[in-house]
Amino acid sequence: MDTPTTGYRNTARLFHWSVAILVLLMIPAGFLMVQDGLDRATQNTLFIFHKNVGVLVLLLVVARIVYRLAKPPEAFPSVMPAMQERAAHLTHFALYALLLIMPIAGYVRVRAGGFPIESLNAMGIPAMVPRSDELAEFAKLVHYWGSYAIAAFVGLHIAAAAYHGLVRRDGIFTRMWPPIKN
Ligand code: HEM
Ligand code: HEM
Repeated sequence: MDTPTTGYRNTARLFHWSVAILVLLMIPAGFLMVQDGLDRATQNTLFIFHKNVGVLVLLLVVARIVYRLAKPPEAFPSVMPAMQERAAHLTHFALYALLLIMPIAGYVRVRAGGFPIESLNAMGIPAMVPRSDELAEFAKLVHYWGSYAIAAFVGLHIAAAAYHGLVRRDGIFTRMWPPIKN
């Protein structure tokens, strides 16, 4: 029998759940705002939400990665088969990579394309990439394919979390839930 584990620290939990909520809003907002036939006002609102919240996600994810490097989480309990542990590590790594790639590609696509990011403009933060249609097109392509990849990995991750929480009930789910532990 494993010794009971306490799971992720509260800071890691708060990072996880704030990023999770924002990303679960960002993905449908992104797919919806590029649909033909959407009225202009809704599209504009979704674009403003998507661009500005996307930059916030980038800041949160960078802070989260720095925190994780400084305070690594405890190892998985030994009830986890080695294969499952490898799959979890791989999925988490892919999620972190996509959580960086997506907002950076989005940022480059918008800034190199010469478009505003309202919150950064309001703070007087200038574009950090040159104006370039080729660069904007490349970043758009990365963002486009990345959007399917992140949706797939998030789906896989939620399915795995549900499997651990509802079927196996092996304590993996409560390593990250609730968002604040006592
Ligand atoms: C867009 C949404 C989400 C993203 C991007 C995401 C990302 C991640 C990442 C990167 C980790 C690894 C943490 C680390 O070791 O540093 C993680 C862990 C975890 N996530 Fe999520 N997550 C999301 C949504 C969810 C949801 C909705 C659930 C529950 C239904 C969930 C349950 C968990 C659990 C239980 C762990 C801990 C796994 C372990 O024991 O190591 N996640 N998540
Ligand atoms: C976690 C962060 C992000 C996620 C998960 C995400 C997701 C998506 C998705 C699913 C789409 C629709 C698919 C497509 O047409 O590409 C999309 C489109 C788009 N996103 Fe993001 N996005 C993120 C961050 C950003 C950021 C930070 C910006 C800009 C500052 C941005 C700008 C755009 C733009 C302009 C589009 C419309 C398609 C295009 O013209 O390139 N995204 N995003």
